[in-house]
Amino acid sequence: MADPQQDPDRSMNPNTPNGLAAGHTPSAIVGYLDQYVVGQDEAKRTLAVVVYAHYQKLLGARRTNASIAKSNVLLVGPTGTGKTLLCQTLSNAIGVPFVTADATSLAQTRYVNEEIEAILLRLLGQAHGDIAKAQHGIVFIDEIDKLKSAGGQLRSTSGEGVQHALLKIMEGSLVKLSATQAIDTSNILFICGGAFVGLDQIRAGKPNYGFISIGDSANQRILDKLNARIKPTDLIEFGLIPEFTGRLPVIANLQDLSRATLVRIMTEPRNSIYQQFCDMMLAQGVTLEIAPRVFVEIAELALEYKVGARSLRGIFEEMMTPVLYAVPDLPQVRRLVFSSLFANPKLLDTAGTEVKNPVAW
Ligand SMILES: Nc1ncnc2c1ncn2[C@@H]1O[C@H](COP(=O)(O)OP(=O)(O)OP(=O)(O)O)[C@@H](O)[C@H]1O
Ligand SMILES: [Mg+2]
Repeated sequence: MADPQQDPDRSMNPNTPNGLAAGHTPSAIVGYLDQYVVGQDEAKRTLAVVVYAHYQKLLGARRTNASIAKSNVLLVGPTGTGKTLLCQTLSNAIGVPFVTADATSLAQTRYVNEEIEAILLRLLGQAHGDIAKAQHGIVFIDEIDKLKSAGGQLRSTSGEGVQHALLKIMEGSLVKLSATQAIDTSNILFICGGAFVGLDQIRAGKPNYGFISIGDSANQRILDKLNARIKPTDLIEFGLIPEFTGRLPVIANLQDLSRATLVRIMTEPRNSIYQQFCDMMLAQGVTLEIAPRVFVEIAELALEYKVGARSLRGIFEEMMTPVLYAVPDLPQVRRLVFSSLFANPKLLDTAGTEVKNPVAW
């Protein structure tokens, strides 16, 4: 699986002046993300543009000393479609301090402000103690939909409290980190992500922008795009408070993963699941051969499980475990051939003769 954290060659060029990757155009950022995240082009472009604009504003603000508003982003999409992966990969791609926080743990603590301080302290740590650098960093708050408020329950009340606490830092405030240190959050970019289960139903009953008169097909496309957008009112109905929604002006939508995309996820990214197992087998002198049909079968199973790409690794590992167990005891094996997920793989020696597996599959 694409895990940029484990890829030694993951960084684009973090050593840009002042830690700002000013030279990275949106297309270069998308190009980097493409190596690890399959599909989700719209979300990639939106993120790239916002991050690029964040740099540009900072550089502009330095030149003109003007304060320019930032565009915090909300990533919405079904579970297992790449929201967290996208942000983790982004954090490696760019040269600014970047930290990830989880809204669920914020909602579960009684000390929200202390938790928020801890997040900012981590950002400062990422900036190696340089406050100026940390003040231009990015904070990714995952699982933001868990902060929804819904009718008087204890848990959701705390969620709403956290939204209020986050409002302050998203808007920009001076947060005291120690007796001598404070951090100004005005220029920190916030990216929030969440699956927002149930949002589709909320949106389903909504009237579309049908009132704009349509002249040609190009206009129809624009109208379709407008209608596909998640509106702040949908998020409010979901349970985000209006002030919070208002601080997330850019919303990027991640799509459900198709069968074809799931197949690509297993094989294409640098450090994909397939690549990882090929490397593992190669270290034992064995070539791993998997027929295209197997990937399609795995993708179909994963679709059934309805957790996006998350189940791919489990299914893949289940398929591999018996051979991973047997092969170390069979030094004559040189090739391992899978022709279907539902058939035993073939173990072959150098001459192409099948090696009997003494262990029951
Ligand atoms: N578009 C994608 N390209 C490549 N890998 C993907 C993609 N989407 C998901 N994955 C794989 O599935 C795993 C789960 O994805 P991720 O954690 O990004 O999901 P998520 O959208 O944040 O889900 P959740 O809403 O449940 O937090 C990732 O570790 C990644 O390996
Ligand atoms: Mg996630």
